[in-house]
Amino acid sequence: MDKSLRKPVIAGNWKMNNTPEQTKALIEQMKPLVADADCDVVLCVPYIDLYAAMEAAAGSNIKIGAENCHWAEKGAFTGEVSAQMLKAAGVPYVIIGHSERRQYFGETDVTVRNRVRAALDAGLKVILCVGEVLSERKLGITSQIVSAQTEIALAGVSEEELANVIIAYEPVWAIGTGETATPEQANEVCAIIRALIARLYGKDAADRFVIQYGGSMNDGNAAELLAQYDVDGGLIGGASLVAEKFAKIVEAASK
Ligand code: 13P
Repeated sequence: MDKSLRKPVIAGNWKMNNTPEQTKALIEQMKPLVADADCDVVLCVPYIDLYAAMEAAAGSNIKIGAENCHWAEKGAFTGEVSAQMLKAAGVPYVIIGHSERRQYFGETDVTVRNRVRAALDAGLKVILCVGEVLSERKLGITSQIVSAQTEIALAGVSEEELANVIIAYEPVWAIGTGETATPEQANEVCAIIRALIARLYGKDAADRFVIQYGGSMNDGNAAELLAQYDVDGGLIGGASLVAEKFAKIVEAASK
């Protein structure tokens, strides 16, 4: 197996941060710092910031994503945004199934699956998030939880469609806590996900499949995490709000 079959993807998840004006300023700061990246660079931003982000990133190597999308094309779903709307707006990426959606907004494995389906139907690239909570890790059921989340989310996704999916393994206990998974812990679960992809789609598909780690990844720990065989990038929260820190992670992924 050859890790170089996979181009790393460093994606920022801004969560509920930045106004359109702040978005423009931060992306202008980031652009020159990540211009030489030898990895894909994505920034996922609040809906309200998408246009400002795409305008600021135009002509650069930074691609823009949303942080969620609904499964229906349109209809009576107050406060939601459909995958088709994102596509029509020119947004290429979308995060689906983030643990904060699962934890605070009633997202289930089945609604995650429905959103993935809609996003792929609309032609979006999906960053699918999976990960165990602390009590599940302590029980020793991380593998079962992450495998079930992955398999349900991908139900009905063809091998061809899989090319538009990447998975972010984000242990919930490591998100926003400053407590990072060790490189070995991150790699262990990313390898479990890759083995599942191999079982579902074959070894070639698994060898090409990008799996990110997320959870307190920062400019200090990124290099070691990204050096792991099965870790092909990062989904970065807090550190993606600071241009220099995000750029250092991009640099670490480009080596
Ligand atoms: P932090 O990097 O702030 O821990 O957030 C990780 C995350 O949830 C990215 O989606």
